[in-house]
Amino acid sequence: MNNETILNAYKRYAPVYDWVFGKIFHPGRQAALDAMNWQTGDQVLEVGVGTGLSLPDYPADVTVTGIDLSKPMLDKARKRVKDDALSNVTLHCMDAQKLDFPDQTFDKIIVLYVLSVVPDPYQVLAEIRRVCKPGAEVIFVNHFSKENPLIRRIEAGLARYASGLGFQPDFPLQPVLDNVGLEVQEVRAVNMLGYWTMVHGRHVEQP
Ligand SMILES: C[S@@+](CC[C@H](N)C(=O)[O-])C[C@H]1O[C@@H](n2cnc3c(N)ncnc32)[C@H](O)[C@@H]1O
Repeated sequence: MNNETILNAYKRYAPVYDWVFGKIFHPGRQAALDAMNWQTGDQVLEVGVGTGLSLPDYPADVTVTGIDLSKPMLDKARKRVKDDALSNVTLHCMDAQKLDFPDQTFDKIIVLYVLSVVPDPYQVLAEIRRVCKPGAEVIFVNHFSKENPLIRRIEAGLARYASGLGFQPDFPLQPVLDNVGLEVQEVRAVNMLGYWTMVHGRHVEQP
């Protein structure tokens, strides 16, 4: 996968994204927003905000910055921000692998169904570590490869179609946890049949 294949995939998904992935992914979005220990005035970054399905559910007293690589997805998010008068939300077209924010900017970072979609998820993790303030809370929701050997085999078989699908089906959790730079507080199954996982942690200073 590279940014071009991702952009092509999400250009195709954008018109139908909310219809296909709105409800099915909603419990994971809600779990992430419910798990955060919100404080008035928090600076929040949502990485890969897509069509902005989560945006109406943020507390009104936090400031949300949403970024996404795909303009057609962001156009949908911009319409939602306007229609719902979400004055606490700002959106930018930006690559999560090269965030255009200074070090230590955000109190909270949320990444919903994005890590297995980017070409280099470990670069995204490094950028998140850079832009979050010391002690910031970070939540990922993603599908990670399952232990079940049959499912593993299916996912490994699908991996060769990752570019066309626009996501990497064969994506294990442990290397992410090893690279995340967080004190992990909770790892919990979410969504239908617990097929997706929420990882909730707090940024720790690197030695
Ligand atoms: C599966 S969608 C998830 C959208 C949204 N977070 C949700 O909850 O529905 C993945 C999103 O990640 C975005 N994305 C992919 N690669 C990216 C990158 N390098 N930087 C920023 N966004 C990216 C895609 O454009 C798409 O909007």
